[in-house]
Amino acid sequence: MQERKIIYSATKPTGKLTLGNYIGAIKLWQEMQQNYDCYFCVADLHSLTIDMDREELNENIYSQIATFLAFGIDPKKSVLYVQSHVKEHAELGWIMNCQTHFGEASRMTQFKDAMAKGKEKISVGLFAYPMLMAADILLYDASYVPVGKDQLQHVEICRDVAIRFNNKYGETFVIPEGIMPKSGAKIMGLLNPSKKMAKSGDNDNDVIYIEDEDDVIRKKFKRAVTDSDNSIKFSEDKPGVSNLLTIYATMKNITIEQAEKHFEGCGYGQLKTETAEAVIEVLAPVRARIKELKADREYLIKVAKDGAERARKVAQAKLKQVYDKLGLVTL
Ligand code: TYM
Repeated sequence: MQERKIIYSATKPTGKLTLGNYIGAIKLWQEMQQNYDCYFCVADLHSLTIDMDREELNENIYSQIATFLAFGIDPKKSVLYVQSHVKEHAELGWIMNCQTHFGEASRMTQFKDAMAKGKEKISVGLFAYPMLMAADILLYDASYVPVGKDQLQHVEICRDVAIRFNNKYGETFVIPEGIMPKSGAKIMGLLNPSKKMAKSGDNDNDVIYIEDEDDVIRKKFKRAVTDSDNSIKFSEDKPGVSNLLTIYATMKNITIEQAEKHFEGCGYGQLKTETAEAVIEVLAPVRARIKELKADREYLIKVAKDGAERARKVAQAKLKQVYDKLGLVTL
């Protein structure tokens, strides 16, 4: 029998999870969990690349474990864990730093964007971010990495470095492939549809958080920016309307064309109202479950502990193999 392929993905607890995180990544996890062996991680070490408030970070880590569970990630099927609980990530991250060229890491868009905003405050960790991410993926022999569009470049650099390592030291790493959702790989902000909907955005009204209350979701969609020609069509020159159509279609599990058809002859008011209701239909039960789970810290800790134990076994074996190949003396 052929072995099942491995999936790896993660979110970083720099803020509360958003509708973008769900559509771009977690929705794929739900589907892939059925057919693959999956590792889903709260990448807490990645969140240290920016300045984080201690209490907020701590809360976000619990909240993300609870959110994965509430979306149906089954800790018996999939390995659900926290990155810092498996120290091999940091160790292989260092090796990846040493295998990556300064030039190729400097070309990463996320890093360049951060540099453009304020050079002085950028940490060295932010520069090394993709190499830690490569370590995450490569430790587990993942074949597929479901991510939104913004993270695809990081999966590409991971591939490049892994191929180079294999060529130099012999077959060691499985070469991973980034997988994006058919639609919704980049959900845009509601007020600023030319920018990605982001956890740590400047304006809360731009973002739907998974834990937003129903009325908050309604209010945010009501304020969403559209345009002035009042036709509900998916098109590059209609970023706001296209974003709403994408959200509606993904919530209803239909195509963009079907969504356009559904709204034929309707006005923007209806598009906004129905999109809000479609989102609420999916998120309301999840939010209720998150609340219950967050109240049971002991259970969340147990899940994280079990997950870390399972992940550690695999990660330790891979790291030993890497150290051997490099010529380090392993005991
Ligand atoms: P993070 O926490 O920024 O995002 C988690 C996932 O959500 C996707 N995403 C989006 N998709 C569509 N539209 C959006 N507006 C949107 N915003 C975010 C991201 O592409 C991502 O898939 N570096 C990763 C965390 C990570 C990781 C890994 C991922 C650490 N190690 C290994 C995969 C494999 C990140 O920043 O996630």
